[in-house]
Amino acid sequence: MYQLAILGVGKMGSAILNGIMKSCLYKKEDILLYVHSDEKLDYYSKNGYQVTNNVERVFEDSKIILLAIKPQMFPQVLESSKKYDYTARCVISIAAGLSISYIEGYFQNAFVVRAMPNTPAQIGRGVTTVCSNDSSNIYFHSAMNIFNSIGVAYEIEEDKMDDSLALNGSMPAYLYVFAKAFIEDAKENGIDFETAKKLAVESIKSSCDMILESDDSIDTLITNVCSKGGTTLAGLDELKKNNFEETIKKCARACANRSKELSK
Ligand SMILES: NC(=O)c1ccc[n+]([C@@H]2O[C@H](COP(=O)([O-])OP(=O)(O)OC[C@H]3O[C@@H](n4cnc5c(N)ncnc54)[C@H](OP(=O)(O)O)[C@@H]3O)[C@@H](O)[C@H]2O)c1
Repeated sequence: MYQLAILGVGKMGSAILNGIMKSCLYKKEDILLYVHSDEKLDYYSKNGYQVTNNVERVFEDSKIILLAIKPQMFPQVLESSKKYDYTARCVISIAAGLSISYIEGYFQNAFVVRAMPNTPAQIGRGVTTVCSNDSSNIYFHSAMNIFNSIGVAYEIEEDKMDDSLALNGSMPAYLYVFAKAFIEDAKENGIDFETAKKLAVESIKSSCDMILESDDSIDTLITNVCSKGGTTLAGLDELKKNNFEETIKKCARACANRSKELSK
């Protein structure tokens, strides 16, 4: 039996596979990859992986099954999963908005882990929230190892998954919008794109490190950048006039509410 099967090797599936291989968590011969396209079948088999486009091999023959296909593909791809029993086996889903009980409907008697990684997993710096249907899940540690191999993983209760989605799963998109607006303004004012990108992104990275590493509160860190009548305050006043903080909170709620809608 394979130690691990990855069902879907797209953006997230391949990022997870890379993390696992870099961390030497499993050997190639212990992993089964389920791929959809012939190109990927060729590519991964030429690279020494066990690959299949017969999904039933995954259901029959794997201890841990990691689902990395899009949520809308579940009914079609997982149709035949219900024929098998998954006692003492584990299913890990990274599908946005799909609850543990929904996954249990496809995999009877399985330990189920639901996880939400984010796209920086592609450079080994993902942030993943993880929860399980059973506190005695013998595979939970393995699941945490898998997600720690693509960055850092935090255990969280399932009922917090939707409300925390903006903090990790969707955060990259929100932060990209923030960075893009500053970079575009700089470009419009004569600073070349590459210089603007480096200045903005390095400042975002180091400021984020300050939040993590400094003993000061975020409010104090903000105050420390400002002087009365100065440049930073002029910009912050503009953000305040435009309800920036309220808008960000609305963005986080819209993200959480959509996740709740999808799980119905
Ligand atoms: N992207 C994110 O920010 C993010 C973050 C957290 C969680 N997720 C979750 O991660 C999962 C995968 O997302 P992704 O961004 O990695 O998607 P993706 O890059 O589009 O990958 C989807 C995978 O599904 C395969 N596939 C397509 N059609 C199929 C079919 N008819 N039958 C079987 N397999 C099929 C594709 O195979 P081929 O390439 O061979 O066609 C591909 O490997 C989703 O559930 C998503 O909710 C994504």
